[in-house]
Amino acid sequence: MMSDPTLNIAVDRESATPIYRQLIAQIRSLVESGDLPAGARLPASRSLARQQGISRISVVNAYRELRDAGLLSSQTGKGTFVARQQTASAMPRAQPPEPSQRAPALRHMLRTDRREGIIDFSGGTPPTEFFPVRYLQDAINQVIDRDGADALSYEVAEGYQPLRIAVRDYVRAIGIRCRHQDVLITGGAQQAIDLVVQSLMKPGETLLTADPTYLGIIDIAQARRVRIHGSPVDDQGIRIDALEQACRDLQPRLIYVMPSYQNPTGHLMPLHRRRQLARLAADLRIPILEDEVYREFRFDGEALPPLKALDESGVVIHTNAFTKVLLPGVRIGYLVADGAWHERLVRVKQAADISTSGLNQRAIHLLLERGVLGKQLERNRLELRRRRGAALAAARRHFPADANWFSPRGGLYLWVELPADGPSAADTLHAALEQGAAFAPGDQFSTRGRHKQALRLNFGLHPPALIEAGFLRIGEAWRSLRAARAVESLESPRQSPP
Ligand SMILES: Cc1ncc(COP(=O)(O)O)c(C=O)c1O
Repeated sequence: MMSDPTLNIAVDRESATPIYRQLIAQIRSLVESGDLPAGARLPASRSLARQQGISRISVVNAYRELRDAGLLSSQTGKGTFVARQQTASAMPRAQPPEPSQRAPALRHMLRTDRREGIIDFSGGTPPTEFFPVRYLQDAINQVIDRDGADALSYEVAEGYQPLRIAVRDYVRAIGIRCRHQDVLITGGAQQAIDLVVQSLMKPGETLLTADPTYLGIIDIAQARRVRIHGSPVDDQGIRIDALEQACRDLQPRLIYVMPSYQNPTGHLMPLHRRRQLARLAADLRIPILEDEVYREFRFDGEALPPLKALDESGVVIHTNAFTKVLLPGVRIGYLVADGAWHERLVRVKQAADISTSGLNQRAIHLLLERGVLGKQLERNRLELRRRRGAALAAARRHFPADANWFSPRGGLYLWVELPADGPSAADTLHAALEQGAAFAPGDQFSTRGRHKQALRLNFGLHPPALIEAGFLRIGEAWRSLRAARAVESLESPRQSPP
């Protein structure tokens, strides 16, 4: 048997950086400096753990992440080696990811679609079994029979007129006064947000949002080179006092909020706060983009008016989409914006992609005409409410007794805050992946690396039995990590009493 090599590394148990992250950073730098050349064999996880006096799970997690990044490779029965060919993305990055690198890092870490047996709560999609696939198929056939080549030609940038009219009617029913000329059809809400950022902001200007916030706005801010600042939230959404202070201090060009069932916390902003927010923006003349993509997933309580319905002075831009409620992949969303903004938005839209697929717009329009959206919503709300109930019950059974969460009144997400003195969400995720479950760790949604103890769980993705099994795995992962830490700290000479 070959003797195990040793690595010239040293972990610091008192560092705030988790041990497996230290291992990743140090192994990366050995590879980068050439001290560990391509093809070099690494010690077995058990032996590295012994050499360093650390738990084996830390080594296993570090090796796995480095393997996923293409820096190491493993051969069954032979061991772990420095990969011979390293891809650009595998090239070393000794520091923890910057906020701007977090989204790709998350996507990388959560490539669970290729891992069998993982119960994955990390995504932002509604469950695929909700998708009205047959209705769409019929609608597409009918559109092509009806419109022929017209359905497949370039559409005007503003969008297919009958769909704009249907959107106008839809938003009028929730109190938004607008004309169909104020409606712009977009490639989902994501493009809608991006168009607003592009047309209202210049690089270097500041965008205000909540912290935590939607990951996609962090991506957009980075791509469009605008600064992003997250104001704190309470259980009613973004805090107005903090937002007002930030407006005065930072002079933002745009405020981005999700009043209904905020991603990732699930908070619903109550009516009085909606009014305060609309008034504040009007007083300060700062445009607000409200993103209402979860508004229709309401389980209980009265429907609240969107900010745009409370907006007297035209400072609010409203976006929503038929992605969460019907079909994410068909990529139809919309913006409602007044006057001059609308024209700028259309110009940016045209530059971005000429127009959103005319075929898809027509098909969605037909689904709306046939009442498919109403039917879907009724069914989806019932099922999502059932899943929320299962998630709350499973969380009570399996998550740490001193973790915190509240019952969301709609949306897809449960936001759980783990005890501050226990394992972080990122560490828990690594351990949970070993157990066969995944979620999104909270710091991914932070504009400044906060919420490290929080998890976002999309309870809508799975039926109750899988929610129960998945939450059990996550709870067990957390408990095993905490137990391993307790052993580590007992074994650590530096932690021993003098
Ligand atoms: C708050 C929020 N806005 C926008 C989007 C993007 O939605 P769409 O698929 O309509 O682009 C998402 C998707 O997760 C979201 O959570």
